[in-house]
Amino acid sequence: MTTAPTTPELDETADAVIIAGAAHGSVANVHFTSNTVEWATPQAFFDAQNAVHQFELDVCATDENAKCKRYYTKADDGLVQSWAGKRCWMNPPYGRVIGDWMRKAYEESQRGALVVCLVPARTDTAWWHDYAAKGDVTFIRGRLKFGDGKNSAPFPSALVVLKPQNADLSHTPPKDQ
Ligand SMILES: C[S@@+](CC[C@H](N)C(=O)[O-])C[C@H]1O[C@@H](n2cnc3c(N)ncnc32)[C@H](O)[C@@H]1O
Repeated sequence: MTTAPTTPELDETADAVIIAGAAHGSVANVHFTSNTVEWATPQAFFDAQNAVHQFELDVCATDENAKCKRYYTKADDGLVQSWAGKRCWMNPPYGRVIGDWMRKAYEESQRGALVVCLVPARTDTAWWHDYAAKGDVTFIRGRLKFGDGKNSAPFPSALVVLKPQNADLSHTPPKDQ
């Protein structure tokens, strides 16, 4: 496990949110405004992670908030689709279903997908212990402002990287289509 690196720019108040791709040492400082109920990933946060991982698939999204060209919506049901061999971004629907998404992410990583998960840092839950703790965890310092929300999230977040097993995606970035 890692924690976000300390930098002079780091502001731990709720007003300024520091985005840390700490597993890879990248840090960006971003601010967001207005409101959302979808907890959409702050674009700058995603961009920093995307620069590292070059995501091919957003596994849960809408037409409006999808972060990748290729994505699954509720109508597709990302939980029943194959993510095999893909570099996946996952900011799952929150609530009780999050355990199903983390299980799916873990299982797909076992089948060769890279899955980077942005989740609430709920370290007391079963899904955290069963699946998140098996990945490379970066605790995000400060609170994210999801979507174009004015307010910081009422919960801390973590980034969980579930690396592909039984496949090596590290040297095969996707081609631009
Ligand atoms: C927290 S939002 C993340 C949105 C976007 N992927 C992002 O990172 O900003 C979770 C999204 O999952 C979608 N969703 C809910 N159930 C789903 C399902 N079974 N399959 C695919 N997407 C689903 C919701 O509509 C919502 O847009």
